[in-house]
Amino acid sequence: MLTNDQLDKWDRDHFFHPSTHLGQHSRGEAPGRVIKTAEGCHIVDRDGNRLLDAFAGLYCVNIGYGRQEVAEAIAAQARELAYYHSYVGHGTEASVTLSHMIAERAPEGMNRTYFGQGGSDANETNIKLVWYYNNILGRPEKKKIISRWRGYHGSGLMSGSLTGLHLFHKKFDLPLDTVRHTTAPYYFRRESEQQSEAEFVAQCVADLEALIEAEGADTIAAFIAEPVIGTGGIVPPPEGYWEAMQAVLKKNDILLIVDEVITGFGRLGSMFGSAHYGLDPDIMTIAKGLTSAYAPLSGSIVHDRVFEVLARGTDENGPLGHGWTYSAHPIGAAAGVANLKVLDELDLVANAGSVGPYLTQAMGEAMADHPNLGEVRGVGMLTAVELVSEPGTRKGFDPAQKIVPQIAAAMARRGVIARAMPEADVIGFAPPLCLTREEADTIIAATRASVDEVLG
Ligand SMILES: Cc1ncc(COP(=O)(O)O)c(C=O)c1O
Repeated sequence: MLTNDQLDKWDRDHFFHPSTHLGQHSRGEAPGRVIKTAEGCHIVDRDGNRLLDAFAGLYCVNIGYGRQEVAEAIAAQARELAYYHSYVGHGTEASVTLSHMIAERAPEGMNRTYFGQGGSDANETNIKLVWYYNNILGRPEKKKIISRWRGYHGSGLMSGSLTGLHLFHKKFDLPLDTVRHTTAPYYFRRESEQQSEAEFVAQCVADLEALIEAEGADTIAAFIAEPVIGTGGIVPPPEGYWEAMQAVLKKNDILLIVDEVITGFGRLGSMFGSAHYGLDPDIMTIAKGLTSAYAPLSGSIVHDRVFEVLARGTDENGPLGHGWTYSAHPIGAAAGVANLKVLDELDLVANAGSVGPYLTQAMGEAMADHPNLGEVRGVGMLTAVELVSEPGTRKGFDPAQKIVPQIAAAMARRGVIARAMPEADVIGFAPPLCLTREEADTIIAATRASVDEVLG
């Protein structure tokens, strides 16, 4: 049996953590947390602390922790066939079945899924497919990708470039030069206080049109976006945004890649964000909720109109030269099949559509009289509390004060995990879709008490 001290030391000395302050962690100044077990919406650490996980890991454990039917499916798959590859037309019963289940749930025409391991690699795949597509169509110049400031699309070379957060670019020599960023549809952070929501949407559209004009539509292959900005601050789009943006993209023959890594499989109270906002994607990125993170698996769902060109490309050039050893890994596929069954059987998409809005609304009421409240916003099982440094303004805090991380730490002491969102004064919530109203009340009480503790 390991003592806590020994495990702590191994953690400091040997575990290179992602998205972590390496210096502080390795010196033991910012200890992490070792998780031991979990059930429903709660996790338990090795010191025996039980916490309500109001961020579902990293917005991924959609069905909640500890579902034995998913664990059993993984175990059964491991016993029967732990691995086989999916190159040259190979597959497993689980991977073929899952591809069919995804097509049944995805928007019209989204019929084929290329499987990867995580959201970042799926977005790398997406851009390669788009480049291949334009080469097959004889448009070798049409290669740039437009993304949005505050978008999050992963941490790879291309996916990290698509991400529109400075922390993910700084000192990494990103973004790559084929990527352009346009305005984030973040109404609360609009430049001019006077601007109405409709005027702000018109500005987002005009900014996109100006960028296309400046670069030349014949050099732009695709636009990638999350239906709702996630890591960039949990920001639902302003009214009319998607309709107007899609019209510009169609007019300029620019493909739409909808990154549904967070919104896919129920988080908005709809099966997909594309259905929620009436989007017509050419490619969709899925991960997280596909398996509820019981095993790593992602996918690029390709519309028939794109697949037809890719297939023609292989007729002309031979097999697609793009594959991962773990594409459609059987363990991930088995987890995905079992996970989607649980999602349906427990009607969790509907629960996200009722308990989620309750969380946002009741949070708004509980926070309304706090002088530092900027706004409470959300959609489905996604909620954000944005704070301001000076009452009555939209002014942010000095990042050096670490106000929101302090609030998140105070919440953890009260037994609730929320996320201090990067590059924003936002406390983020994305609980498992099985959250109850009572658990929502617990989250709200911990939030208000912790904001009061840190800001008075
Ligand atoms: C919208 C979105 N896309 C892509 C990713 C990257 O996924 P992964 O961390 O699995 O590589 C994330 C991760 O949070 C995400 O939120």
